[in-house]
Amino acid sequence: MPASNTAVPAPPTQQQPRTPFSLVRCVATCLLALIVILGLAVLITWLVINPKKLVYTLENGSLQNFNLTNNHLNATFDFVLRAYNPNRRVSVYYDYIESTVTYEDQTIAFNTINPFFQPHRNISRVKSKLVALNLAMSPSTSKDLMVEKTSREIQVDVHFKARTRVKVGIWKSNHRTLRIVCYSVTLRLSGYKHFDKIPCETEL
Ligand SMILES: *[C@@H]1O[C@H](CO)[C@@H](O)[C@H](O)[C@H]1NC(C)=O
Ligand SMILES: *[C@@H]1O[C@H](CO)[C@@H](O)[C@H](O)[C@H]1NC(C)=O
Ligand SMILES: *[C@@H]1O[C@H](CO)[C@@H](O)[C@H](O)[C@H]1NC(C)=O
Ligand SMILES: *[C@@H]1O[C@H](CO)[C@@H](O)[C@H](O)[C@H]1NC(C)=O
Repeated sequence: MPASNTAVPAPPTQQQPRTPFSLVRCVATCLLALIVILGLAVLITWLVINPKKLVYTLENGSLQNFNLTNNHLNATFDFVLRAYNPNRRVSVYYDYIESTVTYEDQTIAFNTINPFFQPHRNISRVKSKLVALNLAMSPSTSKDLMVEKTSREIQVDVHFKARTRVKVGIWKSNHRTLRIVCYSVTLRLSGYKHFDKIPCETEL
């Protein structure tokens, strides 16, 4: 009984600050609920879209017109890059693509590739022809290349740099730079046509 008596006068004094306090609480609760709903929406969207990594493989490569004289190189490279988009709902715009061939970190050939659109669940083959024309090489690189030439096999790295956007439904993302690198690609100088497929690494 005395406990309830002392409790009675308490509410009026608490009532005064209670109204703004409960307003703050309501706003806080609403904000929290909104954050939870937004989080759930993002999670569900993510699960529905289920984004998967794009997969790239260098499928074919050849080297023609190879001539290395006085540290100057002539060569024609042909590559076929297999681009696999495993996504059910994501398609990809390749708005700009360039390819480079490097030998011991020196760029020996460069070219740009026509832009294309890749639908979802699609395999596309990107062809690139690169020409080195009377390219001056450093004496040490030239020497190493000369040594490899005698073995009839030359090892290069093939790089692709693409400006890409993804499309999900009617939504399109901003541009992102996608780097694809195919390391240690062996090209044979002889007429032998065999090419070992190379899985390529990607970096967004
Ligand atoms: C690879 O490219 C070479 C030269 O262009 C061609 O002769 C050969 O048939 C190609 N191989 C495959 C498996 O496409
Ligand atoms: C390579 O190029 C040099 C200079 O242009 C030429 O003298 C030589 O005959 C060429 N060699 C081959 C195998 O084509
Ligand atoms: C490369 O080709 C150009 C044009 O055909 C020629 O003038 C040059 O001598 C060649 N260089 C080499 C190293 O073969
Ligand atoms: C991939 O898309 C390209 C361009 O739309 C089309 O030409 C090609 O047939 C498609 N390939 C597959 C395996 O769906």
